[in-house]
Amino acid sequence: MHSFQPPVIELKTKLEIDIMREAGRAVARILQILFTKLEPGVTTGELDKIALQEIRSLGMNPAFLGYRGYPATACISINEELVHGIPRNDRRICAGDIVTVDMGVIHNGYYGDAAATFPVGVVSAEARELLQVTKDSLDSAIACVKPGNRLGDVSRAIQDCAEQKGYAVVRDYVGHGIGRKLHEEPPVPNFGKPHTGPRLVPGMVLAIEPMVNCGGYQVKTLADEWTVVTVDGRLCAHFEHMVAVTDEGCEVLTVL
Ligand code: MF3
Ligand code: CO
Repeated sequence: MHSFQPPVIELKTKLEIDIMREAGRAVARILQILFTKLEPGVTTGELDKIALQEIRSLGMNPAFLGYRGYPATACISINEELVHGIPRNDRRICAGDIVTVDMGVIHNGYYGDAAATFPVGVVSAEARELLQVTKDSLDSAIACVKPGNRLGDVSRAIQDCAEQKGYAVVRDYVGHGIGRKLHEEPPVPNFGKPHTGPRLVPGMVLAIEPMVNCGGYQVKTLADEWTVVTVDGRLCAHFEHMVAVTDEGCEVLTVL
């Protein structure tokens, strides 16, 4: 007999969340270190090497290296590149770029995952506003994470925040549950309808990751089969935090 089973969202115990907090803090720490290395002239390949060294020095493992064949530790995406930029020794960062670093670790069997878009030196007013709006949309999503709210409330908060300022949210990539696997149930879209979707309960851990475009929401994958860029070539930004639902509300795990 076949019957419909709703996808299972794995709830984490307090002890599991303690481990995920260590993983999340490590990712936050390494993103901070990489930000300090984002000088004009540095290559994305050099940054990736630093990321791997830092992960190893904490006794952790890189989560993305080898994931579905991904060839590096971090995803480093510049300007119109949205996600999954592959670090290269011939790709140099320039003053005025915005650079997204997305990185994951595995620590005692649990994943940590976070991303941020950083300005390199002085960037355009357009870029500055994009970064602010994308960060704000993540903050407004986190403010909705509490028991009793539904996932659609979180998704909608991101969408409203971005669209009200005239930006578009990407449809093709979404956030996710996270735990013993990098991608667990439920998918966490950056768009949606309030009062829909699974109800949030303590023990859920979500990777919430708004991806916001200055132009249209359409993106495409380049011939390297990884790098995702905006179709119109305009700027985009991506911020990701791992958030645990608690009895009172939530706790952001990817902070120092
Ligand atoms: N950071 C991405 C996410 O949040 C995953 C990157 S997958 C990889 O889901 F293959 F590029 F590593
Ligand atoms: Co993620």
